[in-house]
Amino acid sequence: MSFFDRFRRKPRVASTAELRAYFNQAASDEEHYPSTIDPRIFHVKLVMEHLGDLSGKLVADVGCGKGRFARVIQERYPSARICAIDIAEAMLAHVPPGIDRTAAAMTELPLSSGSCDGAYATESLEHAVDIPKAVEELCRIVKPGGRIAIIDKDVKAWGRLETPAWERWFGRGELEKLLARHCTAVSSRPISYWEEIEPDGLFLAWLAVK
Ligand SMILES: C[S@@+](CC[C@H](N)C(=O)[O-])C[C@H]1O[C@@H](n2cnc3c(N)ncnc32)[C@H](O)[C@@H]1O
Repeated sequence: MSFFDRFRRKPRVASTAELRAYFNQAASDEEHYPSTIDPRIFHVKLVMEHLGDLSGKLVADVGCGKGRFARVIQERYPSARICAIDIAEAMLAHVPPGIDRTAAAMTELPLSSGSCDGAYATESLEHAVDIPKAVEELCRIVKPGGRIAIIDKDVKAWGRLETPAWERWFGRGELEKLLARHCTAVSSRPISYWEEIEPDGLFLAWLAVK
Protein backbone atom coordinates (compact mmCIF):
# COMPACT_ATOMS: atom_id res chain seq x y z
CA MET A 1 0.00 0.00 0.00
CA SER A 2 1.42 3.38 -1.00
CA PHE A 3 1.71 6.41 1.27
CA PHE A 4 -1.20 8.04 -0.61
CA ASP A 5 -3.46 4.94 -0.55
CA ARG A 6 -3.36 4.95 3.25
CA PHE A 7 -4.99 8.35 3.35
CA ARG A 8 -7.29 7.95 0.33
CA ARG A 9 -9.56 5.43 2.03
CA LYS A 10 -12.23 7.05 4.16
CA PRO A 11 -13.86 4.72 6.70
CA ARG A 12 -17.64 4.52 6.54
CA VAL A 13 -19.54 5.53 9.67
CA ALA A 14 -21.40 2.55 11.15
CA SER A 15 -24.26 2.73 13.64
CA THR A 16 -24.23 0.95 16.99
CA ALA A 17 -26.94 -1.38 15.66
CA GLU A 18 -24.81 -2.29 12.64
CA LEU A 19 -21.71 -2.96 14.76
CA ARG A 20 -23.74 -5.05 17.21
CA ALA A 21 -25.32 -7.16 14.44
CA TYR A 22 -21.94 -7.72 12.76
CA PHE A 23 -20.17 -8.82 15.95
CA ASN A 24 -23.09 -10.88 17.24
CA GLN A 25 -22.73 -12.93 14.08
CA ALA A 26 -18.91 -12.92 14.23
CA ALA A 27 -19.04 -14.50 17.69
CA SER A 28 -19.65 -17.92 16.13
CA ASP A 29 -16.26 -17.64 14.36
CA GLU A 30 -13.95 -19.07 17.02
CA GLU A 31 -10.96 -19.06 14.67
CA HIS A 32 -10.93 -15.27 14.20
CA TYR A 33 -12.54 -14.35 17.53
CA PRO A 34 -11.00 -16.80 20.01
CA SER A 35 -12.14 -17.25 23.62
CA THR A 36 -8.66 -17.86 24.98
CA ILE A 37 -5.14 -16.52 24.53
CA ASP A 38 -1.78 -17.98 25.52
CA PRO A 39 -0.65 -15.83 28.48
CA ARG A 40 2.92 -16.00 27.16
CA ILE A 41 1.91 -13.89 24.14
CA PHE A 42 3.57 -10.50 24.45
CA HIS A 43 0.29 -8.61 23.94
CA VAL A 44 -0.97 -10.14 27.19
CA LYS A 45 2.33 -9.77 29.02
CA LEU A 46 2.60 -6.09 28.12
CA VAL A 47 -0.96 -5.25 29.21
CA MET A 48 -0.48 -7.15 32.50
CA GLU A 49 2.92 -5.57 33.13
CA HIS A 50 1.57 -2.07 32.51
CA LEU A 51 -1.54 -2.52 34.66
CA GLY A 52 0.55 -3.89 37.54
CA ASP A 53 -0.74 -5.82 40.54
CA LEU A 54 -4.53 -5.93 40.19
CA SER A 55 -5.27 -7.74 43.45
CA GLY A 56 -8.47 -6.25 44.86
CA LYS A 57 -8.55 -3.67 42.05
CA LEU A 58 -11.18 -2.77 39.44
CA VAL A 59 -10.19 -3.06 35.79
CA ALA A 60 -12.22 -2.59 32.61
CA ASP A 61 -11.73 -4.66 29.45
CA VAL A 62 -13.27 -2.41 26.81
CA GLY A 63 -14.41 -4.17 23.64
CA CYS A 64 -13.60 -7.39 25.48
CA GLY A 65 -14.87 -9.85 22.85
CA LYS A 66 -15.04 -13.27 24.48
CA GLY A 67 -12.92 -12.05 27.40
CA ARG A 68 -9.68 -13.82 26.52
CA PHE A 69 -7.54 -11.14 28.22
CA ALA A 70 -9.95 -10.87 31.18
CA ARG A 71 -9.70 -14.65 31.65
CA VAL A 72 -5.91 -14.40 32.10
CA ILE A 73 -6.27 -11.50 34.56
CA GLN A 74 -8.89 -13.42 36.54
CA GLU A 75 -6.59 -16.44 36.78
CA ARG A 76 -3.61 -14.31 37.86
CA TYR A 77 -5.53 -12.01 40.23
CA PRO A 78 -8.60 -13.86 41.57
CA SER A 79 -9.45 -10.92 43.86
CA ALA A 80 -9.55 -8.39 40.99
CA ARG A 81 -12.95 -7.18 39.85
CA ILE A 82 -13.07 -7.18 36.06
CA CYS A 83 -15.72 -5.35 34.03
CA ALA A 84 -15.94 -6.85 30.56
CA ILE A 85 -17.70 -4.48 28.16
CA ASP A 86 -18.63 -5.23 24.58
CA ILE A 87 -21.19 -4.07 22.06
CA ALA A 88 -22.17 -7.67 21.15
CA GLU A 89 -24.11 -9.83 23.59
CA ALA A 90 -23.07 -12.98 21.70
CA MET A 91 -19.40 -12.17 22.44
CA LEU A 92 -20.18 -11.49 26.11
CA ALA A 93 -21.88 -14.89 26.40
CA HIS A 94 -18.38 -16.47 26.24
CA VAL A 95 -16.91 -14.34 29.05
CA PRO A 96 -16.00 -16.65 31.95
CA PRO A 97 -18.17 -16.70 35.09
CA GLY A 98 -16.98 -14.38 37.85
CA ILE A 99 -16.29 -11.53 35.44
CA ASP A 100 -18.90 -8.73 35.29
CA ARG A 101 -20.22 -8.30 31.77
CA THR A 102 -22.11 -5.41 30.22
CA ALA A 103 -23.29 -4.73 26.69
CA ALA A 104 -22.35 -1.16 25.76
CA ALA A 105 -20.51 0.90 23.16
CA MET A 106 -16.96 2.08 23.83
CA THR A 107 -18.14 5.63 23.25
CA GLU A 108 -20.58 5.47 26.18
CA LEU A 109 -19.09 3.34 28.91
CA PRO A 110 -21.45 2.39 31.76
CA LEU A 111 -18.90 3.11 34.50
CA SER A 112 -18.55 6.23 36.60
CA SER A 113 -15.65 8.63 36.16
CA GLY A 114 -12.48 7.65 38.01
CA SER A 115 -13.93 4.34 39.15
CA CYS A 116 -11.29 2.00 37.65
CA ASP A 117 -7.69 1.32 38.58
CA GLY A 118 -7.00 0.35 35.00
CA ALA A 119 -8.59 -0.06 31.59
CA TYR A 120 -7.48 -1.64 28.35
CA ALA A 121 -8.76 -2.08 24.81
CA THR A 122 -7.20 -4.72 22.60
CA GLU A 123 -8.06 -4.73 18.91
CA SER A 124 -11.37 -3.03 19.66
CA LEU A 125 -10.69 0.71 19.31
CA GLU A 126 -10.32 0.13 15.57
CA HIS A 127 -14.12 -0.44 15.52
CA ALA A 128 -15.17 2.43 17.79
CA VAL A 129 -16.05 4.74 14.85
CA ASP A 130 -15.78 7.92 17.00
CA ILE A 131 -12.18 7.39 18.05
CA PRO A 132 -11.59 10.60 20.10
CA LYS A 133 -14.78 9.90 22.08
CA ALA A 134 -13.79 6.28 22.73
CA VAL A 135 -10.33 7.32 23.98
CA GLU A 136 -11.94 10.00 26.15
CA GLU A 137 -14.25 7.37 27.66
CA LEU A 138 -11.39 4.92 28.28
CA CYS A 139 -9.55 7.66 30.17
CA ARG A 140 -12.64 9.04 31.95
CA ILE A 141 -13.38 5.80 33.81
CA VAL A 142 -9.81 5.52 35.15
CA LYS A 143 -8.80 7.23 38.39
CA PRO A 144 -5.79 9.57 38.57
CA GLY A 145 -2.64 7.42 38.65
CA GLY A 146 -4.54 4.53 37.02
CA ARG A 147 -3.24 2.84 33.91
CA ILE A 148 -4.49 2.54 30.35
CA ALA A 149 -3.31 0.21 27.58
CA ILE A 150 -4.41 0.05 23.96
CA ILE A 151 -3.30 -2.52 21.40
CA ASP A 152 -4.32 -2.00 17.81
CA LYS A 153 -3.04 -2.05 14.28
CA ASP A 154 -0.63 0.34 12.61
CA VAL A 155 -2.00 2.39 9.73
CA LYS A 156 1.32 1.83 7.97
CA ALA A 157 0.28 -1.83 7.57
CA TRP A 158 -3.16 -0.93 6.18
CA GLY A 159 -4.24 -3.35 3.44
CA ARG A 160 -2.55 -6.37 4.99
CA LEU A 161 -5.86 -7.81 6.25
CA GLU A 162 -9.47 -7.67 5.11
CA THR A 163 -11.42 -5.16 7.18
CA PRO A 164 -15.04 -4.03 7.55
CA ALA A 165 -15.83 -0.62 6.03
CA TRP A 166 -15.77 1.28 9.34
CA GLU A 167 -12.46 -0.13 10.63
CA ARG A 168 -9.60 2.29 11.34
CA TRP A 169 -5.95 1.60 12.01
CA PHE A 170 -3.79 4.19 13.73
CA GLY A 171 -0.53 6.07 13.62
CA ARG A 172 1.48 6.17 16.83
CA GLY A 173 1.24 9.96 17.07
CA GLU A 174 -2.51 9.99 16.47
CA LEU A 175 -3.42 7.95 19.55
CA GLU A 176 -0.57 9.43 21.61
CA LYS A 177 -2.13 12.86 21.05
CA LEU A 178 -5.62 11.67 21.98
CA LEU A 179 -4.32 9.98 25.15
CA ALA A 180 -2.25 13.04 26.07
CA ARG A 181 -5.47 15.08 26.32
CA HIS A 182 -6.32 13.09 29.46
CA CYS A 183 -3.11 11.39 30.66
CA THR A 184 0.29 12.51 31.90
CA ALA A 185 2.57 9.70 30.74
CA VAL A 186 1.97 8.43 27.21
CA SER A 187 4.14 6.16 25.10
CA SER A 188 3.79 3.81 22.15
CA ARG A 189 5.80 1.04 20.55
CA PRO A 190 5.57 -1.62 17.85
CA ILE A 191 4.96 -5.09 19.28
CA SER A 192 4.89 -8.68 18.07
CA TYR A 193 3.18 -11.75 19.51
CA TRP A 194 6.44 -13.09 20.85
CA GLU A 195 8.77 -10.83 22.79
CA GLU A 196 11.95 -12.22 21.24
CA ILE A 197 10.67 -11.78 17.67
CA GLU A 198 11.16 -8.45 15.91
CA PRO A 199 7.77 -6.70 15.39
CA ASP A 200 6.53 -7.15 11.81
CA GLY A 201 4.79 -3.76 11.74
CA LEU A 202 1.19 -4.90 12.25
CA PHE A 203 0.62 -4.16 15.92
CA LEU A 204 1.26 -1.13 18.06
CA ALA A 205 0.78 -0.72 21.81
CA TRP A 206 -0.01 2.58 23.52
CA LEU A 207 0.51 2.89 27.26
CA ALA A 208 -0.61 5.76 29.46
CA VAL A 209 -0.96 6.80 33.09
CA LYS A 210 -3.92 9.01 33.98
C1 LIG B 1 -11.37 -8.07 17.23
S1 LIG B 1 -12.47 -8.23 18.58
C2 LIG B 1 -11.33 -8.07 19.94
C3 LIG B 1 -11.91 -8.64 21.20
C4 LIG B 1 -10.98 -8.65 22.43
N1 LIG B 1 -10.57 -7.33 22.84
C5 LIG B 1 -9.79 -9.53 22.19
O1 LIG B 1 -8.68 -9.03 22.07
O2 LIG B 1 -10.01 -10.74 22.11
C6 LIG B 1 -13.28 -6.64 18.60
C7 LIG B 1 -14.37 -6.58 19.64
O3 LIG B 1 -14.80 -5.23 19.78
C8 LIG B 1 -16.20 -5.20 19.94
N2 LIG B 1 -16.67 -3.89 19.49
C9 LIG B 1 -16.70 -3.45 18.22
N3 LIG B 1 -17.15 -2.19 18.17
C10 LIG B 1 -17.41 -1.84 19.45
C11 LIG B 1 -17.89 -0.65 20.05
N4 LIG B 1 -18.17 0.42 19.31
N5 LIG B 1 -18.05 -0.64 21.37
C12 LIG B 1 -17.76 -1.75 22.12
N6 LIG B 1 -17.29 -2.90 21.62
C13 LIG B 1 -17.11 -2.93 20.29
C14 LIG B 1 -16.67 -6.35 19.08
O4 LIG B 1 -17.97 -6.80 19.42
C15 LIG B 1 -15.60 -7.39 19.28
O5 LIG B 1 -15.92 -8.25 20.33
